[in-house]
Amino acid sequence: MEILELSEQLVGHKLGRNIYDDSGRLLLPKGTILQRSHISQLINMGYSKIAVGSDDLDANNEHDNETIEYNPLTQAFTLAVDNLKDLMAKVSAGHLVGQGEVEETMELIFPTVLETNNILLNLQDLRRKDEYTLQHSVSVSVVALKIGQLMRMSQHDLKMLGMAGILHDIGKCKIPLDILNKNGSLSEEEFREIQKHPVYGYEIVKGMKLEDPRISLAVLQHHEHQDGRGYPLKLAAGKIHLFSKIIAVADVFDAMTSERPYRGKMALFKAMNEILTSSVNHLNPQVVNKLRTYVLSICPGASALLNNGDIARIIMMNTDEPARPLIQIGDKFINLREHRDLWVKDIIM
Ligand SMILES: [Fe+2]
Ligand SMILES: [Fe+2]
Repeated sequence: MEILELSEQLVGHKLGRNIYDDSGRLLLPKGTILQRSHISQLINMGYSKIAVGSDDLDANNEHDNETIEYNPLTQAFTLAVDNLKDLMAKVSAGHLVGQGEVEETMELIFPTVLETNNILLNLQDLRRKDEYTLQHSVSVSVVALKIGQLMRMSQHDLKMLGMAGILHDIGKCKIPLDILNKNGSLSEEEFREIQKHPVYGYEIVKGMKLEDPRISLAVLQHHEHQDGRGYPLKLAAGKIHLFSKIIAVADVFDAMTSERPYRGKMALFKAMNEILTSSVNHLNPQVVNKLRTYVLSICPGASALLNNGDIARIIMMNTDEPARPLIQIGDKFINLREHRDLWVKDIIM
């Protein structure tokens, strides 16, 4: 193992030691293959030198059992959340934030999301209970990017969509924390206050002078509904931009599958079913369908919790009956289409 000066020349080298943040959270595990985004982030954090390569003498290092499997999306996600934390703090303090800072945060996750087939595998592990808005914003960006990728958007459009995802709830930094973090039900007045966040966000993003107006539009429109009953403008489906429709689906999906202080997270299939139901008058059906097809495509190989408590491995999906795939328990294969007393209650990625 060598201690080397941090520079772009270290791209492709293996990190020699775990890197932790101030609060002791693991940022980059030992063994990570360094990418350009890691290096710029470490420089931003004040690092000038790091350990690269492996060293067998380190086998007894106290942190060795904390070394986790290299997982690019986990790392990218954590770095993006930290970036967004700084960005939101600046916005809250009334400082100017420019396109570069938003772009930098989006670029941290961009290549990894496009290269990662199963983004949920990583997202499910990552959600901590604190910092919900930050994590939710990055998750929405990740899910929106995946939907956009499946819709075959251009790289440029995907980047703009990714930025819209990161910024979609930025207006929440103007909502008083006691309303935002309230566990009980909201009063009518508090609810009206929360519903102002798309407009607050639109004003903040306008002030950033981003070159693409679709970003501020998506921030403004992400709570509009297909039937014109959303907020703030009660726009009809034809007036809602595609970016806003994608962010809306990613937003609902992430909110449902996240654990909140006042409720547990919803099982993946249940969330998909709810989203399908709400696509009738709330969410855009084409976008919902893209997400559904995607979720079903990553299920084979995952573990499933059955209604009788058994854990099985999913072998093949029956797309018209997602809760009834072909499964394997031990060396037995069971087609749940033919065993109507059994069904999948949850997926364990
Ligand atoms: Fe929102
Ligand atoms: Fe949101």
